[in-house]
Amino acid sequence: MVRKCKATDRESIYRIINDGALAYKGVIPGDCWHEPYMSLAELMREMKEMTFFGWEEEGRLLGVMAFQPVKDVTLIRHTYVLRDQQRRGIGSSLLSYAKGLVKTRLLVGTWSDATWAIRFYEKHGFRLLPHKDEFLRRYWNIPQRQIEASVALGFESR
Ligand SMILES: CC(C)(COP(=O)(O)OP(=O)(O)OC[C@H]1O[C@@H](n2cnc3c(N)ncnc32)[C@H](O)[C@@H]1OP(=O)(O)O)[C@@H](O)C(=O)NCCC(=O)NCCS
Repeated sequence: MVRKCKATDRESIYRIINDGALAYKGVIPGDCWHEPYMSLAELMREMKEMTFFGWEEEGRLLGVMAFQPVKDVTLIRHTYVLRDQQRRGIGSSLLSYAKGLVKTRLLVGTWSDATWAIRFYEKHGFRLLPHKDEFLRRYWNIPQRQIEASVALGFESR
């Protein structure tokens, strides 16, 4: 089931993000990769700025996704599923939940080299945005290098 995450979930979220993010290792530009991919301090800052939802089975979180309303859109941030739980439909369930809940346009950004993630979102009706740098600058607060190495996709709700 999908549930909202609490502050006490931070260790589980930390593990899920850093395990899932290993998919990027050796794929995204070397200067964009670091280990752990997200520190606990950064995660705690992110948890104050956005709402995390998780997929739970038998009391264990297996995947997470965060929603962040910004201006007139909602950003989907930090979507990660534990490596040994991927391709079981967990990411799709989290995304369907987002689509049901959010009434604004949904935007998501990911590394251009993460072709599996781009395919995942396209399968769910997201489309690559032309002028992606403009979108990434307007709605995200990320470094210029990350903007250069990323794409943005959008989904029109309702
Ligand atoms: C992308 C991700 C969130 C999708 O979650 P998931 O639970 O694995 O996805 P689902 O099982 O709902 O959907 C699977 C679909 O996603 C895509 N996909 C996911 N992982 C893939 C992989 N390793 N290789 C190729 N395609 C993949 C495929 O389109 C797949 O469909 P298929 O199995 O019919 O080929 C998850 O794989 C993940 O955490 N990946 C690593 C981190 C990442 O890329 N996050 C996205 C950041 S924006």
